[in-house]
Amino acid sequence: MKGVVLAGGLGTRLLPLTAVTNKHLLPVYNQPMVYYPIQTLVNAGITDIMIVTGGNSAGDFLRLLKNGKAFGLKHINYTYQEGEGGIAAALALVEDFADGEPICVILGDNIIEGNISQAIRAYRHQGGGAKIILKQVHDPQRFGVPELEGRRVLRIEEKPSAPKSDYAVIGIYMYDAEVFKIIHTLKPSGRGELEITDVNNAYIERDEMTWDELSGWWTDAGTFESLLHASNLVAETGANKMEMTR
Ligand code: DAU
Repeated sequence: MKGVVLAGGLGTRLLPLTAVTNKHLLPVYNQPMVYYPIQTLVNAGITDIMIVTGGNSAGDFLRLLKNGKAFGLKHINYTYQEGEGGIAAALALVEDFADGEPICVILGDNIIEGNISQAIRAYRHQGGGAKIILKQVHDPQRFGVPELEGRRVLRIEEKPSAPKSDYAVIGIYMYDAEVFKIIHTLKPSGRGELEITDVNNAYIERDEMTWDELSGWWTDAGTFESLLHASNLVAETGANKMEMTR
């Protein structure tokens, strides 16, 4: 399984912090934000990783991450997203890299306390389709929100004003190679982006979507409140539960 970290977008919710640099290079406690999603993949045994960046300071990713040695990797792949076409548009750029293999995609501003090894194992066992990871939250209207019926997910709504559950779809997704065919059929949403929620709903319609619940804390870090919250969580309890070789 290959890994993808999506670190494009313009980070406008964090202006002026993102006026001259990329959101994912900002500090979360004692590490740049992008370190956390990379560690999440590496902890799950995924070592063939592509970083999709974009916007400002793309060259700084190379200077910061180099060839991935600090993460125990032999090599890291990079690509560049022009503009801010959405999460699914960023994902479309890795079709050649994926080369028909299943992928684990993680949003560059998503930080977790624990690890996703168990979900990856379960996804491998399922032998195709997609898997999402859910977490109970107090503010579901900020996220993609699933409507659940027992173990089945019926539909996901992106930032609903009247959420149908108190779960968020976190920014860690597992897909087979069909994901790229699905992305090619998508139309931009009201906010002008190709939405990852539309990708997930396509898998749900095919009856090829499963979900797991994350244990341990999860946060995004894309707003002032969540960026501060992320730093505090990492400072108090640590993330990814793995020591880095610096
Ligand atoms: O954090 C989880 C949430 O992330 C999900 O619950 C939502 O369903 C999903 O749409 C997403 O919501 P956000 O509105 O918070 O996504 P945001 O625009 O902040 O983008 C999250 C990351 O995705 C960002 O840190 C980098 C990457 N991205 C985003 C865009 C719009 C790209 O690489 N390219 C892009 O064009």
